[in-house]
Amino acid sequence: MQSGYPLQTCSYRIEGMETSISIGYRILRDPANAAIKSSRIVFISAGLPGRYQDYLADLFQNSEIVRVKDGETLKSLDGAVSIFDSLAGSSIGRGDSIAYAGGGTLGDVVGFAASTFKRGVGLVSIPTTFLAQIDSAIGGKNGINFRNAKNMIGSFYLPEFVYSDSYFLEGMTDKLFLNGLGELLKYYILNPEEFRWSLLGGGADDMRWNMEALDQAVFTCTRLKMDYVSRDFRDLAGIRRMLNFGHTIGHALESATEFRISHGEAVFWGMMLESLWVQAKGINASRIVSLLRPYLPFFASSRKLLEPVLGDLKGFVMQDKKITRDTIALPFPMEPGVAGSVDMKISDLEWFLSHNPLEGEVE
Ligand SMILES: NC(=O)c1ccc[n+]([C@@H]2O[C@H](COP(=O)([O-])OP(=O)(O)OC[C@H]3O[C@@H](n4cnc5c(N)ncnc54)[C@H](O)[C@@H]3O)[C@@H](O)[C@H]2O)c1
Repeated sequence: MQSGYPLQTCSYRIEGMETSISIGYRILRDPANAAIKSSRIVFISAGLPGRYQDYLADLFQNSEIVRVKDGETLKSLDGAVSIFDSLAGSSIGRGDSIAYAGGGTLGDVVGFAASTFKRGVGLVSIPTTFLAQIDSAIGGKNGINFRNAKNMIGSFYLPEFVYSDSYFLEGMTDKLFLNGLGELLKYYILNPEEFRWSLLGGGADDMRWNMEALDQAVFTCTRLKMDYVSRDFRDLAGIRRMLNFGHTIGHALESATEFRISHGEAVFWGMMLESLWVQAKGINASRIVSLLRPYLPFFASSRKLLEPVLGDLKGFVMQDKKITRDTIALPFPMEPGVAGSVDMKISDLEWFLSHNPLEGEVE
């Protein structure tokens, strides 16, 4: 056990919105973070283990607590309506702030509700999964799925405060670790030099059990993500798009497996398959593939889920927001650390996927 208080705090001002992010073990207990308690209502993931429910109930004694069954089904119009119902029932006004404690699904829906309810109320984010801490809770993209397509309806809206408390990561399951690792590896591929301290050559096991290393990973990813976000908040300048590396095929994999594969696992396989696809087109992606390869053994269990659905992916990729006619502008790091985009024909994808693209990739 480690005794906490902020390892790091950073603040950004984007389009007139301030967002402050604190990272560390048991930081929610830090008296300096009094802003947390001012939330009128807090939505808490019903799936959080009991000790975290107690930790949060103790903190939010003066707020209304609503426990929510989260997961991908919550990211729907019905899920958003249930959050709006609670807000309306509690007479939340424009000057109030609301909070959530949970993973990326709860965060995406509550963030969307906060950005639209009465045209915007304050938001305090308490991400409780590894994936949410390194990625989804920061940067202000919110959304719900619609007609089988991920994040079809959404908004850009920054939380006022994000508290990434690594106490929630203590003893996380294999599934939750791998889920975060998938997104972490995206930041690693985009910025390998930032992760020399831990990740080169397939090292990740050590990080999992070391709270200080997890805090460091969360801080590194937060800083990197906010660098992309602050330069291109609305994803219009081609900078923020790089954070979607692996997500074209990744989102299709999530939908095709009916979310039996987690988001982070899908992103790992998405990065692998997109790199092999680009390589099959004659572009050299071998350095990216060789950085991903040492991690294949970590993702062996999800490989069994994706191989049967490879033939279905094209239909889901067609729903992607980046498609024009038969061509998709695939965000792709031409080499680690160098942003870029490759125009790929969707008709080629069908051919690529039908030729056993992972056959030569042994675990
Ligand atoms: N908005 C963005 O920028 C962004 C970025 C990446 C991913 N996402 C989205 O995030 C979602 C995935 O989020 P997720 O991976 O956090 O999944 P999730 O929200 O479904 O949470 C996974 C499960 O873990 C449980 N849980 C939460 N915290 C826990 C803890 N500390 N210990 C034990 N169990 C815990 C939850 O109850 C839930 O059942 C996807 O919908 C994805 O599209 C959004």
